[in-house]
Amino acid sequence: MKNILSWVLVVLIMVFLLNNCFSSKVQKDITQKASFIAELRKLYASGDTSKWPKPLVDPEAKPYFSEIGHLPEVQFPADNPYSSEKALLGKTLFFDPRLSGSNQIACASCHDPELGWTDNRALSYGHDRQLGTRNSMTILNAAYATSLFWDGRAGSLEEQSHMPIQDQREMNGHIEIAAGKIAKIKGYESLFEKAFGSKTVTKERIAQAIATFERTVKSPPTKFDEFIDGKIDRYSDDEVMGLHIFRTKANCISCHNSGYFSDSRFENIGTSLLGSPQEDLGRYLVTKNPEDAGKFRVPSLREVTKTGPWMHNGSMVSLAEVIQLYNKGNPEPSPYRSTVHDGITLTSHKSEIVRLLELTDEEMRQLEAFLGTLSTKTQRLIPPPIPQ
Ligand code: HEC
Ligand code: HEC
Repeated sequence: MKNILSWVLVVLIMVFLLNNCFSSKVQKDITQKASFIAELRKLYASGDTSKWPKPLVDPEAKPYFSEIGHLPEVQFPADNPYSSEKALLGKTLFFDPRLSGSNQIACASCHDPELGWTDNRALSYGHDRQLGTRNSMTILNAAYATSLFWDGRAGSLEEQSHMPIQDQREMNGHIEIAAGKIAKIKGYESLFEKAFGSKTVTKERIAQAIATFERTVKSPPTKFDEFIDGKIDRYSDDEVMGLHIFRTKANCISCHNSGYFSDSRFENIGTSLLGSPQEDLGRYLVTKNPEDAGKFRVPSLREVTKTGPWMHNGSMVSLAEVIQLYNKGNPEPSPYRSTVHDGITLTSHKSEIVRLLELTDEEMRQLEAFLGTLSTKTQRLIPPPIPQ
């Protein structure tokens, strides 16, 4: 009996010791993690990017890399300098449906300031409620894009502005006819006069005014901007970790970098669905270089929580889904990797930069929390009166 009792005692002591040891390990892990995050927080909020932990940038992305940070001042081109009168004219035109063939569709129909300057649809409805083939892009910060559209086919905002007017699925108009219509509207005379010194309406002036207005549509500082400027408590622990994962383990920074969160290059991340009814050849349509099949412009991630659904075709309905896709290394559906276009076989070559990431659920959640800090509150914008 005595023997049994002492055995029970020994077992109890052992369980007690083991348990103690285990919980002190958990405790130690928690303390270590907390001090790691506290250290990261200090570095990232130091106001000095040279103190940040080194980013993990893929070798092939290095030549185009610049650190994430604030947006610089908007540059207005020398041949279309800023004036508030020109921006007001551009804003008025942006909201004026008379630029369209039907007099019903304005730029703002698909780029609505209340919807992150997009339409929050997978694909846009245009003339006669025809469905387009691509997801509407935000106008916010478009001033920083070095080429416009998902495939970069426009070189400047001036050049871009005529394209939706003429697009049969979008505004189904003609720029000369649109300019003629605007010229007949009395209320525009003084707006043109103030912006350009005379009331003459030309398609070039329309383009310059719209582009000037678009360059004023810029995000105010985000939570991210404030945090890295030294407001150390702006970020939760998850957001601090998310920022760090974005720059390191998840490799997002290899493409989504600079203050604009895009290196402005074209990359194939396996989204082109070549050979399917939804195929989009992307950059190939502009360059006709087979290597560009399935490449799209790396989009900015500023304001990204507002620009969904995401990707060139709006196929992703949540940011969590986007992150899961990257986590799996962006697998491409196997039947949809090649297509024959005008007799040429085109194959999708996914970038080597996207690969299996093996992030934990917690890390994916943290990455999503960080992406949330790149957006700002929707600013109330009162559309200008439509001139009569
Ligand atoms: C029917 C919907 C629709 C209308 C109307 C429309 N857009 Fe767009 N816009 C889109 C879509 C869709 C895209 C992306 C198209 C693509 O990549 O091929 C886009 C892209 C853009 C971009 C590129 C942004 C970037 O970061 O590259 C700008 C700028 C733009 N539109 C301005 C305008 C202006 C100015 C007007 C009016 C003259 C206008 N849009 C009218 C749907 C529309
Ligand atoms: C190889 C370059 C590359 C890397 C690395 C990369 N991206 Fe992207 N990202 C792109 C391109 C290109 C697109 C547009 C693809 C399309 O439209 O089909 C995109 C689109 C997105 C979008 C949708 C944006 C929108 O407005 O529709 C989000 C969100 C995004 N990426 C987040 C991330 C995150 C988070 C990571 C890291 C886990 C990451 N990206 C890594 C190139 C990259």
